[in-house]
Amino acid sequence: MDRAIRLILLGAPGVGKGTQAKRIASRYAIPQISTGDMLRAEIEARTSIGVNAQQVISQGLLVPDDLVVQIVKTRVRHSDCSNGYIFDGFPRTLAQAEALDKQEITIDFVIVLDCRDDVILRRLSGRRICPSCQRMYHLDFDRPSVDGLCDICGVPVIKRRDDEPETIRKRIAVYRELTEPLIGYYQDHGNTRLFVVDGGVAPADTPEVIFQRIIQVIEGGVQE
Ligand code: AP5
Repeated sequence: MDRAIRLILLGAPGVGKGTQAKRIASRYAIPQISTGDMLRAEIEARTSIGVNAQQVISQGLLVPDDLVVQIVKTRVRHSDCSNGYIFDGFPRTLAQAEALDKQEITIDFVIVLDCRDDVILRRLSGRRICPSCQRMYHLDFDRPSVDGLCDICGVPVIKRRDDEPETIRKRIAVYRELTEPLIGYYQDHGNTRLFVVDGGVAPADTPEVIFQRIIQVIEGGVQE
């Protein structure tokens, strides 16, 4: 692919944005810009941003727009973004989307991953993460080779704090109220193209099957 790919992966918590963003990043050699990962790094480093973010995230709510916009603005200026980028979990509100426009940060594609709520609940309840290398697992669909231990680091895998059922429900409700309206926003938005991709139901719709659907829309869209 000889042109820049600048895209947003939009979708409810647990729909598979992170899983797919990593694959897209690797195929097109562009960075995955995950505001969730960046905020968790701040929490881990115990910065003042992290301390404030932790409280909000653990309640399933959104971190203030200006803070997230500032983080993204800084990140997108890095040289590795010159050939494109994937926004994973950003923007999440109309104010964040408008801030992107104001900064003239180009978006070629918005890919909406769509899934039923019961599928999302199952994906997030079973998700486990290696706290050292961040490799993701799932108790039903992608288990570590040795129970409970990361295949790469050998350390115990953990459950994210916001992956408890009550917080998951709150995150889904926040998504429906504040983030889903972005689909309408990007449906008619300059040269940005929006595609809805079926995020699938396991076990048939594996991450690879969904990845192939995404590539089809990206490469089909680029050729048009
Ligand atoms: P963030 O980290 O962005 O969380 P999220 O959007 O809720 O999404 P997740 O990371 O939980 O899920 P995902 O869609 O990436 O799914 P995954 O690939 O992991 O944000 C966390 C918090 O930070 C927010 O709640 C908010 O407070 C704050 N925040 C972040 N950005 C912000 C912003 N812009 N503004 C304000 N606040 C912000 O997959 C889930 C599981 O399913 C995994 O175990 C995976 O292995 C499995 N899986 C994936 N695909 C499949 C498949 N096809 N078949 C079977 N299993 C699958």
